[in-house]
Amino acid sequence: MLLTDKVAFVTGGAGRLGRAIVTTFAREGAAVVLADLDPARAEEAAREISGKTNGRVIAVTGDVSQAADVARMVEEATQAVGLPDILVNAHGIFPNVPVLDVDPDVWDRIFAVNVRGSMLPAQALARRWITNGVKGSIVNISSGASRSARAGGAGYAGSKAAVNLLTETLAIELGPHGIRVNAVAPGLIMDNVVTEESDALHPYVNMTLRGTPMGRTGHANDIAEAVAFLASERSAWTTGAILEVTGGTHCGRTYMPTTQGLR
Ligand SMILES: NC(=O)c1ccc[n+]([C@@H]2O[C@H](COP(=O)([O-])OP(=O)(O)OC[C@H]3O[C@@H](n4cnc5c(N)ncnc54)[C@H](O)[C@@H]3O)[C@@H](O)[C@H]2O)c1
Repeated sequence: MLLTDKVAFVTGGAGRLGRAIVTTFAREGAAVVLADLDPARAEEAAREISGKTNGRVIAVTGDVSQAADVARMVEEATQAVGLPDILVNAHGIFPNVPVLDVDPDVWDRIFAVNVRGSMLPAQALARRWITNGVKGSIVNISSGASRSARAGGAGYAGSKAAVNLLTETLAIELGPHGIRVNAVAPGLIMDNVVTEESDALHPYVNMTLRGTPMGRTGHANDIAEAVAFLASERSAWTTGAILEVTGGTHCGRTYMPTTQGLR
């Protein structure tokens, strides 16, 4: 198994991607700390995943944008299962609001949760790793949106672009300690995989499908597999990478025809 004897701390672990990541990690032999905001949801997710994988999954709860909450969650995790040696930042919020309409408090919250909320767990764990000589691995969940502008995306896409730079900067700062820092940038993941455009779907989904070379939306497991690789020692020489897992959606002007015949 890929993650035997590892302890992973997964923020947003009760969410769509977080659950898939926690499940994959538990199946790969890691003990997992599922960190999320709502105690009831986090406990329910941890119970369900530990039941179906026979793995060790515990829940801790708090707001990742608050330093005191992060310090407490890391301490609770360490007391319960030992110092985590993998961090996955899989929490996030994604309001889509045009700049002309955006409430500055909403704008600040996007950056607080998505950017500060990724930095604080990384800072808290990396400090402990350096003290204890742990060569940890951090995987941030970014987004394909971080590299392609679209209407309404200034706050969210901007926050994920900041997550990319946080990833690369941490890779530089922590590399000398043997700590790796990478990101996965997912494309569109919904509860059900969609392969055909239809009037019943949101126009955004239809347009995304048209521009996805692999011809389908993603499944949360597509992301979890990439995260497991980057968290594990199979990627021992990979750091500062932003791995797009999008079915090709963000690799260019994917929906354009060829220019054959154009004069
Ligand atoms: N679903 C997609 O298509 C997609 C695509 C690209 C990127 N992403 C990114 O993947 C991540 C997960 O997305 P998802 O689809 O699983 O979303 P989700 O809403 O299902 O899960 C997000 C989880 O984060 C938790 N969370 C939010 N704010 C928090 C906070 N302050 N402290 C602690 N936990 C908090 C929520 O409670 C929730 O359980 C996000 O960063 C998102 O931007 C998702």
